[in-house]
Amino acid sequence: MQSDIRRTLLEMFTNSKEEYVSGQKISDMLGCSRTAVWKHIEDLRKEGYELEAVRKKGYRIVNKPNKVSENELILGLQTKKIGQHVHYEEVVESTQKIAHRLAQEGVQEGTVVVAEEQTSGRGRLDRVWHSPKGTGVWMSIILRPTVPPQNAPQLTLLTAVAVVQAIQEVTGISPQIKWPNDILIEGKKAVGILTEMQADADRIHSVIIGIGINVNQQQQDFSDAIKDIATSLAAETGELINRATLMQTIFLKIESLYEEYLKNGFGLIKVLWETYAISIGKRIIARTLRGSIEGWAKGITEDGVLLVEDDLGVLHHIHSADIEL
Ligand code: BTN
Repeated sequence: MQSDIRRTLLEMFTNSKEEYVSGQKISDMLGCSRTAVWKHIEDLRKEGYELEAVRKKGYRIVNKPNKVSENELILGLQTKKIGQHVHYEEVVESTQKIAHRLAQEGVQEGTVVVAEEQTSGRGRLDRVWHSPKGTGVWMSIILRPTVPPQNAPQLTLLTAVAVVQAIQEVTGISPQIKWPNDILIEGKKAVGILTEMQADADRIHSVIIGIGINVNQQQQDFSDAIKDIATSLAAETGELINRATLMQTIFLKIESLYEEYLKNGFGLIKVLWETYAISIGKRIIARTLRGSIEGWAKGITEDGVLLVEDDLGVLHHIHSADIEL
């Protein structure tokens, strides 16, 4: 079904609340025949919408699919760019992989790849990212910022700030950020962000921001390997969260921070990031590939590099590490 027809149809049902919408009204609004209306309704049913049809009254939606499909994301979306184009799949190996391909094919900035399930979800440092069906947000956003490649890590920090703000708004929880990009609730990880780039030495072609959010898993759904370190929004709030609403809120937050970033630079994002950061001002151990550094986390640089002062007063610039608090 064409996306503008689908949007109009879903808007009609949403605006009419519990009321029935007559076949004639739909056919007038869409400018198509009653037979075509029936076909559109069947298409929605195939996508998992439960539609009740009553003679002489019309149709109404009684149940929506628990999906993060294009339909669910487009309705009520307030952004200009991010999420306006959605590539949705039920199962993928990794949304990052698809996003890389689409970015190379030249899709619009702000295009989002989203899946219900990932079979080979990727984390930072080549780790596995568990992405079970229907319970999380597994998505990759394609951006084309006009900044030098060395500034790309700033976008990870920008995304972390946006996701924290969106989680706060949707759930009331106040998560914290562990450098560089883990979002924790009560010390357990609920969100991971993986930023990858297609670039020349001096120019970014695209940045692929992968965001994985544990949303509706219950604590017992986590495997033994991660159950002590992972949590979900539902496990923390005791309520199921609407994933599409959460995603739309994230799109809006990213869009407004991204506009600010392109216009005025990293300054505001840095300040916001530091207010949400868990490790700044604390004693930490940074485990890098070249060994561990213990000391006080002083802050981040303009490039998003973590500054750690050891007990001899030496300031270390940490580009990549696991942080232990
Ligand atoms: C991390 O904390 O190590 C980063 C995890 C990033 C996971 C997301 S889920 C959507 C996107 N697709 C992937 O394969 N990975 C990212």
